[in-house]
Amino acid sequence: MQKTILVAGATGGIGAPLCERLALAGQTLVLAARNIDRLDALSARLKGTGKHIIIPVDMSDDASIAAFGSALATFGRPLDGAVLMPPPLPRNTDPFPDSDTWRSNFQRSFIGPLALLKLAIEKMSTDVDAGHRAKVVIVSAITSVQVLGHYAASNVLRPAWLGQAKTLAFALGARGIHVNTVSLGGILTEHYAGLISGRAKEAGQTYEQRLADETANVPLRKYASPQEVAAVIDGLLSEFSDHLTGINVLCDGGFTRSF
Ligand SMILES: NC(=O)c1ccc[n+]([C@@H]2O[C@H](COP(=O)([O-])OP(=O)(O)OC[C@H]3O[C@@H](n4cnc5c(N)ncnc54)[C@H](OP(=O)(O)O)[C@@H]3O)[C@@H](O)[C@H]2O)c1
Repeated sequence: MQKTILVAGATGGIGAPLCERLALAGQTLVLAARNIDRLDALSARLKGTGKHIIIPVDMSDDASIAAFGSALATFGRPLDGAVLMPPPLPRNTDPFPDSDTWRSNFQRSFIGPLALLKLAIEKMSTDVDAGHRAKVVIVSAITSVQVLGHYAASNVLRPAWLGQAKTLAFALGARGIHVNTVSLGGILTEHYAGLISGRAKEAGQTYEQRLADETANVPLRKYASPQEVAAVIDGLLSEFSDHLTGINVLCDGGFTRSF
């Protein structure tokens, strides 16, 4: 069955390969992010039979989210799925950022994206008896379950998404709306590979040496490719998750030590 899926954060290092995969499988996509040129370029290169639409949005801005909601409401098809990628938080070691910084981090990476998700859920239509379910996938990070010293704000906001997903799973399960999270470890997006290159240069190493050093504490001895992440998210959007909701999938090569 052809599905209609919203991808918020569509043009990013993970979003773009995900959209490419979903489009190739015949899904129709609602592509959302801020930069319209990048959205246009992504839409133009997607292969498949879906009639994709673009709705620009700034997930940190209430007015922009409201405009997104109006545009989504006029779109003629219900959503079968939504993938939410809250805007990344900057690396930060400060355990006591000032109140304005906290407010801004919460707005950008939790309150705004959650408002957008609410609009997406309002656009979902399910029929459990006919096996027609809708799937929400929220992208989080391994700081959802394990503190990392250099990601102080993430240590607070990533677990918040797990609590929110569980809450929504309970609230929406009877309607056949599933809500799961994917917590990512290191992902070899172009941006992240560039950071590794920089660190390799500083340390007088080759890129390969640096990558091997940085993944030495990952059981699978690698970071994920964006395509591997796309496959996991695609799985959670598919019938694979027909009896799964409120779960957190750790996509981290085994890095997380806790059960
Ligand atoms: N890459 C990793 O290693 C890694 C690890 C753990 C978790 N994650 C999480 O995975 C998700 C995707 O990461 P990524 O590496 O693909 O990030 P990315 O390459 O920086 O892409 C971010 C995407 O979100 C959009 N975006 C950013 N700010 C936005 C805003 N305020 N409103 C609407 N859209 C916004 C960007 O497009 P515009 O700039 O045009 O808006 C882009 O499409 C994020 O939630 C990130 O925190 C990534």
